[in-house]
Order: sequence, then C-alpha cells, then structure tokens
Amino acid sequence: MLNFDYSIPTKIFFGQDQIQKLADQISQYGSRILLVYGGGSIKKIGLYDKAVAFLTENNLPFWELSGVDPNPRIETVRTGIDLCRKHQIDFVLAIGGGSTIDCAKVIAAGFYYEADPWDLMIGKAQIEKALPIGTILTLAATGSEMDPIAVISNPHANQKIGMGHPAMAPKFSILDPTYTYTVPKHHTAAGTADIMSHVLESYFSNQRSAYLQSRMAEAILKTCIKYGPLAMEEPENYEARANLMWASSLAINGLLSYGKERKWSCHPIEHELSAYYDITHGVGLAIITPHWMSYVLDDSTVEVFKDYGVNVWGLNPQEDAYTVARKAVAKTKAFFVSLGLPTTLRAVNIDDENLGLMANAATKHGPLGEFRPISAQDVLQILKSAL
Ligand code: NZQ
Ligand code: ZN
Repeated sequence: MLNFDYSIPTKIFFGQDQIQKLADQISQYGSRILLVYGGGSIKKIGLYDKAVAFLTENNLPFWELSGVDPNPRIETVRTGIDLCRKHQIDFVLAIGGGSTIDCAKVIAAGFYYEADPWDLMIGKAQIEKALPIGTILTLAATGSEMDPIAVISNPHANQKIGMGHPAMAPKFSILDPTYTYTVPKHHTAAGTADIMSHVLESYFSNQRSAYLQSRMAEAILKTCIKYGPLAMEEPENYEARANLMWASSLAINGLLSYGKERKWSCHPIEHELSAYYDITHGVGLAIITPHWMSYVLDDSTVEVFKDYGVNVWGLNPQEDAYTVARKAVAKTKAFFVSLGLPTTLRAVNIDDENLGLMANAATKHGPLGEFRPISAQDVLQILKSAL
C-alpha cells in the first residue's frame, strides 16, 4: 500500500428532510448567497421552492445563476463570477447534479482570480482560495458533492478539462435520496455507469496490497449492480436511490484510491468524447470501459481481472485467470446493455473522423493510467475497437 494523507472534509447530511439543516450550515460560512442550478428540474420537483423558503425565513439574501448545462461551460462560470463580484457574494450554493456543482466550484475559485477562469482549468494559473461552497445533490453519479474536482467544457476549443483543488471541496452536502426520484431512466443508467467507472479507475491498480480498498471497491460495485436496475424499474424505491447516492459519494471521495496510484484511464478518454461530441459522461464511459478492459488484459493485469470476476460477478475461482477475466469483461458489457446504455461510438453518432485527434488530446500530458499505461496509439486502438 502506498503512503497517503487522509482528508475528506465535506460534511454530509444524508437522508430524508435533511434540507432542514441548510440555513444553519450556510450561516457558518456566509450570508450573501449565489444559488446555482441547471435547466429547471429542481423547480419541477419542488426543491427550488423549499430551498428558497429556508433562505428567506432565515434572512439569507440570494442571487441566482440558472441554466447550467450538462457538460457545464466556461461561459456560465464567467457569468457566475460576475454575479458574485457584483453582489458581494460570500457563499455559493449548488443545487443539482455534477454539472451544476462543478460549475459552482469554479465560480467559487474564479472569484479570487482576476483574469479569465479558463486559466485555472488549463493550469496557466493556480487556485489559491475559493468561496465556500455547499451542495444539495439531485443525481447520483459524479461524486462531485464530496470531492474537490470540477470538470468544465470550452466548446469553442473542443476542450473538456478536469481539475481539482482542496479549496473547492464542498463544506457540506445535503444528500436526500428522494430528490433523485425524478431522475430519468437514461440518467439513472448513466449515473450508475459513472459511479462504477470511478470505482474501477482505482480498483484496477498494481497495488494489490491495498487489499482493504479493493474489497471496499467491490462492495460499491455490487451495490451499483444490485440497485442501478432497481432504481430504473422503481424510480421511487428509497432503498435503491439511497444506496446509489451514497455509492456515488464514496466512489470518488478518496477512500478507494488512498494507497493506490492516482492516474486514471477511461475518464480522460471519455472527456474527449464529450469535448468533441457533447455526449453524456456516463454513456461514454459505458462504451469505453469494456473495450479498455479487453485492451489492457494481459499477463501483468490478469490477476486483478480475476479478482474482479470472482468477487464482483461471482465467477468460478477454479477456472483459469484468463477465462474468468474475459467472462468478467463480458459481464460488465452485458450489465451496461441491461441498463439500456449503448455499446458503440456509432450508437452515439461518433464516427472515425476525430478519433486520432481525441487520442492525442487524451494523452497530451503523457500515457494514461499506471495499472497498464496506454499511449496515444493505444487509445486510438481502443477507440477504433469501440466504433
Ligand atoms: O439541468 P437540470 O434541469 O437540473 O437537469 C439535469 C440534466 O439535464 C437532470 N437532472 C438532475 N437531477 C435531476 C434531473 N432530472 C430530473 N430529476 C432530478 N432530480 O439530469 C441531467 C444531467 O445532469 P448533470 O448534472 O449533467 O449530470 P451528472 O451529475 O452526471 O454530471 C455530469 C458532469 O459531471 C462531470 C462530467 O464530466 C459531466 O460534465 N464529472 C464530474 C466529476 C467530479 N466533479 O468529480 C467526476 C466525473 O467523472 C465527471 O467527469
Ligand atoms: Zn465520471
């Protein structure tokens, strides 16, 4: 197991009606609020009215930034920063899914940076501090509610970039599973694939001695496999929504990756698909993951695939490692299919035109992953196999 510094600072208020803690929590950090949300789902589910009522009752003035797109854009971040400066905002409250939360994080960090916030995304400037952030989560997927990461797109440049800084970790997140009852089937499926991918990115590691982290990872994968389909069949099944929601946060908050290598493989590839074609993040991951698995399966990795097959999919440990590994990859793909997710790039209208560009962009900082590092050429092969 590698050395690690443990810090997961976000306070979680989990369960039904935990929104009652909202005003008390905000008051610990600020008094003039920017309320950030997406295309209006929070109004349809009555969450907007509830949140506004708590803010108003507690004399917490707020200003609004609405219309954050899925795959949030840097333009929206710029608008949010202007609002914060104009109204002397001192707290950013995000209500929504990962896109809304990510947008709020970069607004909070960009507030303290004089020049263009895209500089922070591309590493041209470093974050020094950020306004405090709180979240109310409405979609179990990204884990942004409990991590310090934000992913922002710049459509004009075909770029989608992820970046992290401790100052962007939410101070608190309210996780009420009932707010996810209205998440459409498609996004429930994509969210489940995203959670699983976050787990797999650290599960497939050369640090097999980080035994505890791997077994915890398997538990989260099994939770997704059990409850993802159930939440799709029964959208208002509290147990299913609750388990997916907590899995979303635990998958990426550091718990599973402590003591392991940190470089990811499928996510950087997917971010290029979203950058060029604006597809749903979890859908891209469901397409890429089985192809990546098949590509990196070799003598150096097969034992981890065997663990995965036996412990997650219940395959027979007596069979030889390659047989179990190949069956595990097939099970993974079949599971995504059972959720109604596509398995090919063409199914999401991606042809071979930009594969080379995307492969180069995904590897512009060097090979991806440490489990089995992959170069631009490797990524291109994976993308071709996914066509
Ligand atoms: O915009 P609204 O109207 O809210 O609708 C959203 C959106 O259309 C809808 N939705 C959310 N909650 C709902 C709901 N509809 C009905 N009922 C509800 N309760 O769902 C749609 C998708 O929302 P979005 O926030 O885009 O989804 P998600 O949470 O999957 O976030 C995806 C973004 O997060 C990034 C992705 O790349 C992508 O840009 N990621 C962020 C990460 C992080 N910060 O750690 C890590 C991830 O790997 C990921 O890259
Ligand atoms: Zn993801």
